[in-house]
Amino acid sequence: MTVLVTGASGLVGSEVVARLLSAGHEVVALVHRVENLIGNNGRPLHAPEGRLRLIKGDVTRPDLGLDRPEWTNLAGGVDRIVHCAAITDFGRTEQLYQQVNVAGTQHVIELARERSTPLVHVGTAYVCGERSGTIAASELDLGQRMGNHYEESKLRAETLVRKAGADGLPVAVVRPSIVVGAARTGVVRDFKNIYVVLKLTTQGRVRSVPGHFDAMLDLVPVDHVADVVAQTVDRFTEAEGRTFHAVGGGLSLRDFSDVLAEFPSFHVPRFVVPSAFDPQRLPEGERAYYDKVVQLYESYFRRRITFDRTETERFMPVKPPATGQAFLRRLLEYALRAGYLGASLPGVDQVLAELRNRGN
Ligand SMILES: NC(=O)c1ccc[n+]([C@@H]2O[C@H](COP(=O)([O-])OP(=O)(O)OC[C@H]3O[C@@H](n4cnc5c(N)ncnc54)[C@H](OP(=O)(O)O)[C@@H]3O)[C@@H](O)[C@H]2O)c1
Repeated sequence: MTVLVTGASGLVGSEVVARLLSAGHEVVALVHRVENLIGNNGRPLHAPEGRLRLIKGDVTRPDLGLDRPEWTNLAGGVDRIVHCAAITDFGRTEQLYQQVNVAGTQHVIELARERSTPLVHVGTAYVCGERSGTIAASELDLGQRMGNHYEESKLRAETLVRKAGADGLPVAVVRPSIVVGAARTGVVRDFKNIYVVLKLTTQGRVRSVPGHFDAMLDLVPVDHVADVVAQTVDRFTEAEGRTFHAVGGGLSLRDFSDVLAEFPSFHVPRFVVPSAFDPQRLPEGERAYYDKVVQLYESYFRRRITFDRTETERFMPVKPPATGQAFLRRLLEYALRAGYLGASLPGVDQVLAELRNRGN
């Protein structure tokens, strides 16, 4: 098959491209500003026998910014579309999310409609907004309050996709939670989003964070997300009309606290009951970090949610990777090794080995 992947240079997109190539497909990668595809391991993607073609486009523009012949060729030349392109960082303007995440999705739907090409939309599990409890993959707009403009735009985008599906376009949706490093190694190409909060807290720049100890943060390894997307492409006939949560099992803030405390070089943030937290009382330096970063993520530290992944477990040929405390340790160990969270303090074995060496 030939598969078009939008957002192909992104964290998820590049891993999806890698899987599609190794499954023997041809890939047309829609790139925007970044024009090279780097895998999560930091290495450029290799395309055997010229099976990877890059085209430059912009999802915010009608016809993805392509000229008519290019658009027509693309519409007629692909068997599946995977839509990953989006603005994923927080704190951007509502208008930008609308242009890229909502209008961008509409333009991709239009491309798919030209030849009724099956469309796999990459959404987010957090379209659930500030609901609590167990979230079913089949649920979408229940009038929930959204946590931020990003979530709101992804809700609108998925609503468009579902509507196109109801009107006859073959669609499937994959909803990742918070995408982080690889399951086995913790390796991640981009330290973004949750990693920034981890950096500010573990460095002691932010010492108190409003949150409930039993709030759940759902971290999912990037390789699992890409596996679910690639399976959805490959087995689209089975996947059509379905929504898959590509999620971990969730970690409570208490789990976070306990694991962070195991690392001698880390400050462990104090999670303060939100009703008792007053940003005005923060020291000046900390207040600036709160306003610029922590505040954007704050609602995640209050949510008591779990994502139902029964549908994904039924669909996937293998069990999802474990994402408990041991996984969080791996993520942190990698971020330390990579220098993102500062240098780690030497462990006991290393100190004793050094003392022994000095004794010799
Ligand atoms: N990362 C997460 O934690 C997470 C969690 C849940 C869901 N998701 C969803 O998963 C998908 C992929 O996320 P990601 O983490 O891989 O994002 P990412 O690393 O930020 O990559 C986003 C991609 O979208 C492209 N893009 C942005 N604006 C564009 C435009 N106007 N036209 C065409 N392409 C454009 C970017 O290209 P340039 O950089 O060249 O502009 C980049 O390739 C998104 O739909 C996101 O909402 C991500």
